[in-house]
Amino acid sequence: MTTTNTPPKTLWLGRWGFVLAATGSAVGLGNIWKFPYITGEFGGGAFVLVYLACILAVGVPIMMAEISFGRRGRGSPIDAIRRVVHESGRGSFWSIFGWMAMLCGFMILSFYVVVAGWSFSYLWKMLSGGLAGNSVDDMAAIFAANNANPFTLGAWSTLVTVLTMLIVGKGVQAGIEKSVSWMMPGMVIMLGILIGYGAFSGGFADAWSFLFSFNTEGLSSEGLLAALGHAFFTLSLASGAILTYGSYLPEGHSIARTTFSVAIADTVVALMAGLAIFPIIFANGMNPGQGPGLIFMSLPLAFQAMPFGTLFGVLFFVMLSMAALTSSISMIEATVAWLVASKGMTRKRASWGVGIVLWLVSTLAMLSFNMGADWTLAGRTFFDWLDYLTSRWMMPLGGLGMALMAGFLLRTEIFREELGLSRTQHTLWLFMVRYVSPLGIVLIFIDALGLATL
Ligand code: PHE
Ligand code: NA
Repeated sequence: MTTTNTPPKTLWLGRWGFVLAATGSAVGLGNIWKFPYITGEFGGGAFVLVYLACILAVGVPIMMAEISFGRRGRGSPIDAIRRVVHESGRGSFWSIFGWMAMLCGFMILSFYVVVAGWSFSYLWKMLSGGLAGNSVDDMAAIFAANNANPFTLGAWSTLVTVLTMLIVGKGVQAGIEKSVSWMMPGMVIMLGILIGYGAFSGGFADAWSFLFSFNTEGLSSEGLLAALGHAFFTLSLASGAILTYGSYLPEGHSIARTTFSVAIADTVVALMAGLAIFPIIFANGMNPGQGPGLIFMSLPLAFQAMPFGTLFGVLFFVMLSMAALTSSISMIEATVAWLVASKGMTRKRASWGVGIVLWLVSTLAMLSFNMGADWTLAGRTFFDWLDYLTSRWMMPLGGLGMALMAGFLLRTEIFREELGLSRTQHTLWLFMVRYVSPLGIVLIFIDALGLATL
Protein backbone atom coordinates (compact mmCIF):
# COMPACT_ATOMS: atom_id res chain seq x y z
CA MET A 1 0.00 0.00 0.00
CA THR A 2 1.52 3.28 -1.03
CA THR A 3 -1.45 5.46 -0.26
CA THR A 4 -0.85 8.90 1.16
CA ASN A 5 -4.50 9.75 1.56
CA THR A 6 -5.60 12.31 4.10
CA PRO A 7 -7.63 11.05 7.04
CA PRO A 8 -11.40 11.03 6.47
CA LYS A 9 -13.36 13.62 8.40
CA THR A 10 -16.34 11.50 9.39
CA LEU A 11 -17.29 11.60 13.08
CA TRP A 12 -20.21 10.25 15.08
CA LEU A 13 -22.95 12.87 15.19
CA GLY A 14 -24.47 12.28 18.57
CA ARG A 15 -22.90 12.28 21.98
CA TRP A 16 -23.80 8.61 22.34
CA GLY A 17 -22.97 7.63 18.79
CA PHE A 18 -19.81 5.75 19.58
CA VAL A 19 -21.04 4.04 22.72
CA LEU A 20 -24.20 2.88 20.98
CA ALA A 21 -22.41 1.67 17.88
CA ALA A 22 -19.66 -0.05 19.84
CA THR A 23 -22.16 -1.67 22.21
CA GLY A 24 -24.22 -2.67 19.20
CA SER A 25 -21.13 -4.24 17.71
CA ALA A 26 -20.16 -6.05 20.89
CA VAL A 27 -23.59 -7.30 21.91
CA GLY A 28 -24.67 -9.81 19.33
CA LEU A 29 -24.90 -13.46 18.48
CA GLY A 30 -21.68 -13.91 20.42
CA ASN A 31 -23.54 -13.22 23.64
CA ILE A 32 -26.82 -14.95 23.02
CA TRP A 33 -25.95 -17.75 20.62
CA LYS A 34 -22.26 -18.51 21.06
CA PHE A 35 -21.59 -17.88 24.74
CA PRO A 36 -24.26 -20.32 25.95
CA TYR A 37 -23.32 -23.09 23.57
CA ILE A 38 -19.56 -22.97 24.10
CA THR A 39 -20.10 -22.67 27.84
CA GLY A 40 -22.18 -25.82 27.52
CA GLU A 41 -19.49 -27.57 25.49
CA PHE A 42 -16.69 -26.72 27.88
CA GLY A 43 -18.58 -27.62 30.99
CA GLY A 44 -19.74 -24.41 32.61
CA GLY A 45 -18.24 -22.68 35.65
CA ALA A 46 -14.52 -23.05 35.07
CA PHE A 47 -14.92 -21.89 31.49
CA VAL A 48 -16.97 -18.88 32.58
CA LEU A 49 -14.33 -17.91 35.12
CA VAL A 50 -11.48 -18.02 32.60
CA TYR A 51 -13.64 -16.13 30.12
CA LEU A 52 -14.35 -13.36 32.64
CA ALA A 53 -10.66 -13.14 33.52
CA CYS A 54 -9.80 -12.82 29.82
CA ILE A 55 -12.33 -10.01 29.38
CA LEU A 56 -10.81 -8.05 32.23
CA ALA A 57 -7.10 -8.77 31.83
CA VAL A 58 -6.85 -9.07 28.06
CA GLY A 59 -9.97 -7.65 26.43
CA VAL A 60 -10.36 -4.35 28.26
CA PRO A 61 -6.73 -3.13 27.99
CA ILE A 62 -6.58 -4.14 24.32
CA MET A 63 -9.87 -2.46 23.56
CA MET A 64 -8.46 0.77 24.98
CA ALA A 65 -5.41 0.42 22.78
CA GLU A 66 -7.51 -0.37 19.74
CA ILE A 67 -9.78 2.65 20.10
CA SER A 68 -6.67 4.79 20.57
CA PHE A 69 -5.20 3.44 17.33
CA GLY A 70 -8.42 4.31 15.56
CA ARG A 71 -8.84 7.81 16.88
CA ARG A 72 -5.17 8.69 16.48
CA GLY A 73 -4.86 7.26 12.99
CA ARG A 74 -8.36 8.22 11.80
CA GLY A 75 -9.01 5.54 9.23
CA SER A 76 -9.44 1.88 8.42
CA PRO A 77 -7.27 -0.50 10.47
CA ILE A 78 -4.62 -0.58 7.75
CA ASP A 79 -4.42 3.18 7.33
CA ALA A 80 -4.82 4.04 11.00
CA ILE A 81 -2.17 1.64 12.22
CA ARG A 82 0.20 2.77 9.50
CA ARG A 83 -0.23 6.42 10.46
CA VAL A 84 0.29 5.77 14.16
CA VAL A 85 3.32 3.61 13.46
CA HIS A 86 4.80 6.27 11.15
CA GLU A 87 4.19 8.90 13.80
CA SER A 88 6.48 6.85 15.99
CA GLY A 89 9.09 6.60 13.27
CA ARG A 90 8.44 2.92 12.57
CA GLY A 91 7.96 1.15 9.27
CA SER A 92 4.78 0.20 7.44
CA PHE A 93 5.39 -3.46 8.21
CA TRP A 94 3.22 -3.19 11.31
CA SER A 95 0.12 -2.42 9.31
CA ILE A 96 0.08 -6.17 8.69
CA PHE A 97 -1.99 -6.26 11.87
CA GLY A 98 -4.46 -3.97 10.17
CA TRP A 99 -4.66 -6.29 7.19
CA MET A 100 -5.19 -9.27 9.43
CA ALA A 101 -7.92 -7.48 11.38
CA MET A 102 -9.74 -6.54 8.20
CA LEU A 103 -9.55 -10.07 6.85
CA CYS A 104 -10.69 -11.38 10.19
CA GLY A 105 -13.78 -9.16 10.23
CA PHE A 106 -14.66 -10.36 6.74
CA MET A 107 -14.18 -14.02 7.66
CA ILE A 108 -16.30 -13.69 10.78
CA LEU A 109 -19.08 -12.04 8.85
CA SER A 110 -19.00 -14.88 6.32
CA PHE A 111 -20.27 -17.32 8.92
CA TYR A 112 -22.08 -14.80 11.10
CA VAL A 113 -24.66 -14.10 8.39
CA VAL A 114 -25.56 -17.80 8.40
CA VAL A 115 -26.35 -17.74 12.11
CA ALA A 116 -28.13 -14.41 11.77
CA GLY A 117 -30.10 -16.11 9.01
CA TRP A 118 -31.18 -18.76 11.51
CA SER A 119 -32.46 -15.98 13.72
CA PHE A 120 -34.46 -14.40 10.88
CA SER A 121 -35.84 -17.77 9.83
CA TYR A 122 -36.92 -18.54 13.40
CA LEU A 123 -38.64 -15.18 13.54
CA TRP A 124 -40.54 -16.19 10.44
CA LYS A 125 -41.39 -19.59 11.92
CA MET A 126 -42.57 -17.96 15.11
CA LEU A 127 -44.89 -15.66 13.13
CA SER A 128 -46.20 -18.38 10.86
CA GLY A 129 -46.69 -21.14 13.40
CA GLY A 130 -43.79 -23.20 12.07
CA LEU A 131 -42.47 -23.90 15.55
CA ALA A 132 -45.37 -26.12 16.47
CA GLY A 133 -44.42 -29.24 18.36
CA ASN A 134 -43.54 -29.42 21.97
CA SER A 135 -41.00 -32.07 22.63
CA VAL A 136 -37.27 -31.72 22.70
CA ASP A 137 -37.12 -34.03 19.70
CA ASP A 138 -39.58 -31.89 17.75
CA MET A 139 -37.32 -28.90 18.23
CA ALA A 140 -34.25 -30.80 17.10
CA ALA A 141 -36.15 -31.95 14.01
CA ILE A 142 -37.26 -28.41 13.21
CA PHE A 143 -33.69 -27.15 13.47
CA ALA A 144 -32.41 -29.96 11.26
CA ALA A 145 -35.10 -29.34 8.65
CA ASN A 146 -34.31 -25.63 8.64
CA ASN A 147 -30.70 -26.45 7.73
CA ALA A 148 -31.42 -29.17 5.22
CA ASN A 149 -32.51 -27.04 2.28
CA PRO A 150 -29.64 -24.94 0.88
CA PHE A 151 -32.03 -22.70 -1.06
CA THR A 152 -34.19 -21.55 1.82
CA LEU A 153 -31.26 -21.40 4.24
CA GLY A 154 -29.27 -19.49 1.63
CA ALA A 155 -32.14 -17.08 1.12
CA TRP A 156 -32.04 -16.15 4.80
CA SER A 157 -28.30 -15.54 4.89
CA THR A 158 -28.60 -13.60 1.64
CA LEU A 159 -31.23 -11.41 3.28
CA VAL A 160 -28.84 -10.68 6.15
CA THR A 161 -26.02 -9.89 3.73
CA VAL A 162 -28.21 -7.48 1.78
CA LEU A 163 -29.50 -5.73 4.92
CA THR A 164 -25.96 -5.37 6.26
CA MET A 165 -24.62 -3.87 3.06
CA LEU A 166 -27.65 -1.58 2.74
CA ILE A 167 -27.03 -0.09 6.17
CA VAL A 168 -23.28 0.22 5.68
CA GLY A 169 -23.80 1.66 2.22
CA LYS A 170 -25.89 4.47 3.69
CA GLY A 171 -22.93 5.73 5.65
CA VAL A 172 -21.63 6.03 9.17
CA GLN A 173 -24.19 8.50 10.46
CA ALA A 174 -27.29 7.89 8.37
CA GLY A 175 -26.80 4.14 8.23
CA ILE A 176 -24.85 2.80 11.18
CA GLU A 177 -25.46 5.42 13.84
CA LYS A 178 -29.14 5.76 13.10
CA SER A 179 -29.82 2.05 13.06
CA VAL A 180 -28.05 1.28 16.32
CA SER A 181 -29.68 3.97 18.39
CA TRP A 182 -32.95 2.19 19.24
CA MET A 183 -32.45 -1.57 19.41
CA MET A 184 -30.34 -2.40 22.45
CA PRO A 185 -32.68 -1.50 25.35
CA GLY A 186 -35.46 -3.62 23.93
CA MET A 187 -33.20 -6.62 23.80
CA VAL A 188 -32.23 -6.28 27.44
CA ILE A 189 -35.91 -6.10 28.42
CA MET A 190 -36.65 -9.25 26.44
CA LEU A 191 -33.85 -11.13 28.14
CA GLY A 192 -35.11 -9.95 31.50
CA ILE A 193 -38.52 -11.41 30.78
CA LEU A 194 -36.98 -14.70 29.74
CA ILE A 195 -34.93 -14.88 32.91
CA GLY A 196 -38.08 -14.20 34.86
CA TYR A 197 -39.63 -17.16 33.13
CA GLY A 198 -36.54 -19.28 33.72
CA ALA A 199 -36.64 -18.50 37.41
CA PHE A 200 -39.99 -20.27 37.70
CA SER A 201 -39.39 -23.11 35.30
CA GLY A 202 -37.58 -25.29 37.80
CA GLY A 203 -34.12 -25.35 36.29
CA PHE A 204 -32.87 -22.01 37.56
CA ALA A 205 -30.82 -23.32 40.47
CA ASP A 206 -29.13 -25.88 38.23
CA ALA A 207 -28.37 -23.17 35.68
CA TRP A 208 -26.93 -20.89 38.32
CA SER A 209 -24.59 -23.50 39.69
CA PHE A 210 -23.66 -24.66 36.19
CA LEU A 211 -22.54 -21.13 35.29
CA PHE A 212 -21.04 -20.00 38.56
CA SER A 213 -19.59 -22.95 40.44
CA PHE A 214 -16.02 -22.19 39.55
CA ASN A 215 -14.44 -25.19 41.17
CA THR A 216 -15.53 -27.84 38.69
CA GLU A 217 -13.10 -30.35 37.22
CA GLY A 218 -11.04 -27.63 35.57
CA LEU A 219 -10.59 -26.84 31.95
CA SER A 220 -8.94 -28.47 28.95
CA SER A 221 -6.34 -26.63 26.88
CA GLU A 222 -8.94 -26.31 24.19
CA GLY A 223 -11.34 -24.73 26.65
CA LEU A 224 -8.73 -22.18 27.68
CA LEU A 225 -8.14 -21.22 24.07
CA ALA A 226 -11.86 -21.05 23.44
CA ALA A 227 -12.38 -18.76 26.46
CA LEU A 228 -9.61 -16.43 25.30
CA GLY A 229 -10.86 -16.40 21.73
CA HIS A 230 -14.40 -15.75 22.84
CA ALA A 231 -13.30 -12.78 24.93
CA PHE A 232 -11.96 -11.22 21.72
CA PHE A 233 -14.95 -12.25 19.68
CA THR A 234 -17.55 -10.99 22.09
CA LEU A 235 -15.86 -7.60 22.46
CA SER A 236 -15.41 -7.31 18.66
CA LEU A 237 -11.64 -6.93 19.08
CA ALA A 238 -8.85 -7.42 16.56
CA SER A 239 -11.32 -7.65 13.70
CA GLY A 240 -11.39 -4.05 12.53
CA ALA A 241 -14.75 -3.23 14.08
CA ILE A 242 -13.81 -1.38 17.24
CA LEU A 243 -10.77 0.25 15.68
CA THR A 244 -12.75 1.63 12.76
CA TYR A 245 -15.59 2.82 14.98
CA GLY A 246 -12.93 4.44 17.18
CA SER A 247 -11.67 6.34 14.16
CA TYR A 248 -14.98 8.25 14.14
CA LEU A 249 -14.76 9.12 17.84
CA PRO A 250 -14.49 12.87 18.45
CA GLU A 251 -11.72 14.22 20.66
CA GLY A 252 -12.60 14.72 24.27
CA HIS A 253 -14.56 11.51 24.75
CA SER A 254 -13.06 9.23 27.37
CA ILE A 255 -11.80 6.04 25.78
CA ALA A 256 -11.45 4.29 29.12
CA ARG A 257 -14.97 5.08 30.20
CA THR A 258 -16.55 3.93 26.97
CA THR A 259 -14.46 0.77 27.01
CA PHE A 260 -15.74 -0.13 30.44
CA SER A 261 -19.36 0.54 29.57
CA VAL A 262 -19.14 -1.59 26.45
CA ALA A 263 -17.38 -4.43 28.27
CA ILE A 264 -19.84 -4.38 31.16
CA ALA A 265 -22.90 -4.27 28.91
CA ASP A 266 -21.52 -7.12 26.85
CA THR A 267 -20.75 -9.29 29.86
CA VAL A 268 -24.11 -8.64 31.49
CA VAL A 269 -25.98 -9.62 28.32
CA ALA A 270 -23.97 -12.83 27.94
CA LEU A 271 -24.59 -13.87 31.53
CA MET A 272 -28.27 -12.96 31.19
CA ALA A 273 -28.48 -15.12 28.11
CA GLY A 274 -26.90 -18.00 30.00
CA LEU A 275 -29.34 -17.56 32.86
CA ALA A 276 -32.23 -17.51 30.41
CA ILE A 277 -31.21 -20.56 28.43
CA PHE A 278 -29.71 -23.08 30.85
CA PRO A 279 -32.80 -23.38 33.06
CA ILE A 280 -34.70 -24.53 29.98
CA ILE A 281 -31.91 -26.95 29.10
CA PHE A 282 -31.87 -28.52 32.54
CA ALA A 283 -35.61 -28.47 33.13
CA ASN A 284 -36.06 -30.45 29.91
CA GLY A 285 -33.16 -32.80 30.42
CA MET A 286 -31.39 -31.51 27.31
CA ASN A 287 -27.67 -31.85 26.72
CA PRO A 288 -25.90 -28.51 27.32
CA GLY A 289 -23.06 -29.53 25.00
CA GLN A 290 -25.08 -30.02 21.83
CA GLY A 291 -23.42 -27.19 19.91
CA PRO A 292 -24.52 -24.33 17.67
CA GLY A 293 -28.21 -25.28 17.64
CA LEU A 294 -28.51 -24.92 21.41
CA ILE A 295 -30.59 -21.74 21.67
CA PHE A 296 -32.69 -22.58 18.64
CA MET A 297 -33.69 -25.89 20.14
CA SER A 298 -34.19 -24.72 23.71
CA LEU A 299 -35.80 -21.28 23.66
CA PRO A 300 -38.78 -22.23 21.46
CA LEU A 301 -39.68 -24.83 24.08
CA ALA A 302 -40.00 -22.10 26.65
CA PHE A 303 -42.00 -19.85 24.34
CA GLN A 304 -44.47 -22.63 23.79
CA ALA A 305 -44.99 -23.21 27.45
CA MET A 306 -45.33 -19.61 28.58
CA PRO A 307 -48.44 -17.44 28.38
CA PHE A 308 -48.26 -15.12 25.36
CA GLY A 309 -45.36 -17.25 24.23
CA THR A 310 -45.77 -16.40 20.57
CA LEU A 311 -45.61 -12.71 21.31
CA PHE A 312 -42.49 -13.12 23.44
CA GLY A 313 -40.96 -15.41 20.87
CA VAL A 314 -41.52 -12.93 18.07
CA LEU A 315 -40.06 -10.09 20.14
CA PHE A 316 -37.10 -12.22 21.10
CA PHE A 317 -36.20 -13.19 17.56
CA VAL A 318 -36.71 -9.61 16.39
CA MET A 319 -34.26 -8.49 19.02
CA LEU A 320 -31.81 -11.27 18.25
CA SER A 321 -31.91 -10.40 14.57
CA MET A 322 -31.31 -6.74 15.32
CA ALA A 323 -28.46 -7.55 17.69
CA ALA A 324 -26.94 -9.59 14.89
CA LEU A 325 -27.31 -6.74 12.41
CA THR A 326 -25.74 -4.13 14.70
CA SER A 327 -22.78 -6.48 14.92
CA SER A 328 -22.60 -7.51 11.29
CA ILE A 329 -22.43 -3.91 10.06
CA SER A 330 -19.42 -3.33 12.31
CA MET A 331 -17.54 -6.30 10.87
CA ILE A 332 -17.56 -4.97 7.35
CA GLU A 333 -17.23 -1.24 8.03
CA ALA A 334 -13.43 -1.60 8.13
CA THR A 335 -13.27 -3.04 4.63
CA VAL A 336 -15.70 -0.51 3.21
CA ALA A 337 -13.88 2.39 4.90
CA TRP A 338 -10.60 1.11 3.49
CA LEU A 339 -11.95 0.82 -0.05
CA VAL A 340 -13.41 4.31 0.15
CA ALA A 341 -10.29 5.96 1.57
CA SER A 342 -7.58 4.03 -0.22
CA LYS A 343 -9.19 3.02 -3.48
CA GLY A 344 -11.32 6.10 -3.98
CA MET A 345 -14.54 4.12 -4.36
CA THR A 346 -17.89 5.57 -3.44
CA ARG A 347 -19.44 4.08 -0.34
CA LYS A 348 -22.27 2.49 -2.32
CA ARG A 349 -19.96 0.83 -4.79
CA ALA A 350 -17.62 -0.38 -2.07
CA SER A 351 -20.55 -1.83 -0.13
CA TRP A 352 -22.04 -3.69 -3.04
CA GLY A 353 -18.64 -4.92 -4.21
CA VAL A 354 -17.80 -6.28 -0.79
CA GLY A 355 -21.32 -7.64 -0.51
CA ILE A 356 -20.91 -9.80 -3.59
CA VAL A 357 -17.67 -11.38 -2.39
CA LEU A 358 -19.20 -11.82 1.02
CA TRP A 359 -22.21 -13.51 -0.48
CA LEU A 360 -20.01 -16.06 -2.28
CA VAL A 361 -17.98 -16.95 0.79
CA SER A 362 -20.98 -17.02 3.10
CA THR A 363 -22.83 -19.29 0.70
CA LEU A 364 -20.00 -21.78 1.05
CA ALA A 365 -20.31 -21.46 4.82
CA MET A 366 -24.07 -21.99 4.60
CA LEU A 367 -23.54 -25.19 2.60
CA SER A 368 -21.68 -26.64 5.60
CA PHE A 369 -25.12 -27.40 7.04
CA ASN A 370 -26.43 -29.36 4.10
CA MET A 371 -24.73 -30.23 0.80
CA GLY A 372 -21.26 -29.47 2.13
CA ALA A 373 -21.66 -31.13 5.49
CA ASP A 374 -18.96 -33.63 4.64
CA TRP A 375 -16.56 -31.28 2.92
CA THR A 376 -14.39 -31.39 5.98
CA LEU A 377 -10.74 -30.95 6.77
CA ALA A 378 -9.43 -32.34 10.04
CA GLY A 379 -13.03 -32.90 11.04
CA ARG A 380 -14.10 -29.30 10.51
CA THR A 381 -16.52 -27.97 7.94
CA PHE A 382 -15.88 -24.70 6.13
CA PHE A 383 -18.17 -22.93 8.61
CA ASP A 384 -16.23 -24.45 11.50
CA TRP A 385 -12.90 -23.39 10.00
CA LEU A 386 -13.98 -19.78 9.64
CA ASP A 387 -15.05 -19.72 13.26
CA TYR A 388 -12.04 -21.66 14.52
CA LEU A 389 -9.34 -19.72 12.65
CA THR A 390 -10.73 -16.32 13.57
CA SER A 391 -11.65 -16.88 17.22
CA ARG A 392 -8.91 -19.18 18.34
CA TRP A 393 -5.96 -17.83 16.35
CA MET A 394 -6.36 -14.63 14.36
CA MET A 395 -8.03 -12.50 17.00
CA PRO A 396 -5.70 -13.45 19.89
CA LEU A 397 -2.71 -13.02 17.56
CA GLY A 398 -3.95 -9.64 16.35
CA GLY A 399 -4.62 -8.59 19.93
CA LEU A 400 -1.11 -9.66 20.90
CA GLY A 401 0.29 -7.54 18.07
CA MET A 402 -1.66 -4.50 19.14
CA ALA A 403 -0.77 -4.90 22.81
CA LEU A 404 2.94 -5.18 21.99
CA MET A 405 2.84 -2.23 19.60
CA ALA A 406 1.07 -0.08 22.17
CA GLY A 407 3.22 -1.33 25.03
CA PHE A 408 6.69 -1.32 23.54
CA LEU A 409 6.97 -0.16 19.96
CA LEU A 410 5.18 3.16 19.78
CA ARG A 411 5.73 6.54 21.39
CA THR A 412 4.16 6.51 24.82
CA GLU A 413 2.83 10.08 24.44
CA ILE A 414 0.43 8.88 21.76
CA PHE A 415 -1.42 6.70 24.22
CA ARG A 416 -1.05 9.17 27.05
CA GLU A 417 -2.79 11.77 24.93
CA GLU A 418 -5.46 9.47 23.55
CA LEU A 419 -6.35 7.78 26.83
CA GLY A 420 -5.96 10.86 29.04
CA LEU A 421 -5.67 8.77 32.19
CA SER A 422 -4.18 9.76 35.51
CA ARG A 423 -0.57 8.74 36.12
CA THR A 424 -1.45 5.70 38.20
CA GLN A 425 -4.18 4.59 35.84
CA HIS A 426 -1.86 4.91 32.86
CA THR A 427 0.86 2.93 34.58
CA LEU A 428 -1.65 0.21 35.31
CA TRP A 429 -2.87 0.16 31.70
CA LEU A 430 0.72 0.06 30.41
CA PHE A 431 1.52 -2.81 32.73
CA MET A 432 -1.49 -4.67 31.38
CA VAL A 433 -0.70 -4.22 27.67
CA ARG A 434 3.01 -4.84 28.20
CA TYR A 435 2.92 -7.90 30.39
CA VAL A 436 -0.40 -9.22 31.59
CA SER A 437 -2.35 -9.38 28.32
CA PRO A 438 0.55 -10.63 26.14
CA LEU A 439 1.58 -13.19 28.72
CA GLY A 440 -1.96 -14.45 29.06
CA ILE A 441 -2.25 -14.85 25.30
CA VAL A 442 1.16 -16.46 24.88
CA LEU A 443 0.66 -18.93 27.72
CA ILE A 444 -2.67 -20.06 26.36
CA PHE A 445 -1.15 -20.38 22.86
CA ILE A 446 1.72 -22.48 24.15
CA ASP A 447 -0.67 -24.64 26.07
CA ALA A 448 -2.88 -25.07 23.02
CA LEU A 449 0.00 -25.84 20.66
CA GLY A 450 0.70 -28.85 22.82
CA LEU A 451 -2.57 -30.32 21.62
CA ALA A 452 -2.39 -33.30 19.34
CA THR A 453 -5.22 -32.07 17.13
CA LEU A 454 -4.98 -28.52 15.87
N1 PHE B 1 -19.04 -9.04 19.20
C1 PHE B 1 -19.97 -9.62 18.29
C2 PHE B 1 -20.87 -10.61 19.03
O1 PHE B 1 -20.65 -10.90 20.14
C3 PHE B 1 -19.29 -10.32 17.15
C4 PHE B 1 -18.27 -9.49 16.45
C5 PHE B 1 -17.01 -9.99 16.26
C6 PHE B 1 -18.58 -8.23 15.96
C7 PHE B 1 -16.04 -9.26 15.62
C8 PHE B 1 -17.62 -7.48 15.30
C9 PHE B 1 -16.37 -7.99 15.12
O2 PHE B 1 -21.79 -11.11 18.47
NA1 NA C 1 -20.49 -9.86 22.24
